[in-house]
Amino acid sequence: MKNIVILISGGGSNMAAIVRAARDGRWRERYGAQVAAVISNRPDAAGLALARAEGIPTVVVDHREQPSREAFDARLAQEIERHQPWLVAMAGFMRILGDGFVARFAGRMVNVHPSLLPAFPGLDTHRRAIEAGCRFAGATVHRVTADLDHGPILAQAVVPILPADTPETLAERVLSQEHLIYPRAIAGLLATEG
Ligand code: GAR
Repeated sequence: MKNIVILISGGGSNMAAIVRAARDGRWRERYGAQVAAVISNRPDAAGLALARAEGIPTVVVDHREQPSREAFDARLAQEIERHQPWLVAMAGFMRILGDGFVARFAGRMVNVHPSLLPAFPGLDTHRRAIEAGCRFAGATVHRVTADLDHGPILAQAVVPILPADTPETLAERVLSQEHLIYPRAIAGLLATEG
């Protein structure tokens, strides 16, 4: 079975989109794939309840309970490995992971980022895009490498930035595209990689 482990920190709407796509697209029958677990670094992440409602096992590895970044990475890696992941999908996971962690899951980890990478890596992407006078923004699905928000690009979607946009209205427009391209990119990997 190709196990997909999804990492979240918050609302989990991308996670929910992947779970929906897996169900509606019959990933189990078609690709022998399943969402095996959802792991959050925050116990209060709203996405945890969504995952539980779908019958998906959830785990919390609270970064505040770990003595160091290294200890957090090690604990998280341990929880992920328990599910023998074919793919680790970061979906609004807001912790920076160390090089050792990234190396351990090299080639098996993907992320969605709310900008047209390589523009605007990091935080606060929507405000920065508006302030830079960009006419377009978007979302990127990419492989995770040691370079933050810079791995090989798997999919992108473009949206216009409208004159009246605030970071919030733009975020909403971008997020709705993330929900389309992220599951599609994962299905693409499932279809093409053994
Ligand atoms: C999404 O917009 C995602 O791209 C972003 O956080 C949001 C999470 O929403 N991720 C990052 O900024 C990571 N650098 P969700 O929890 O509803 O999926």
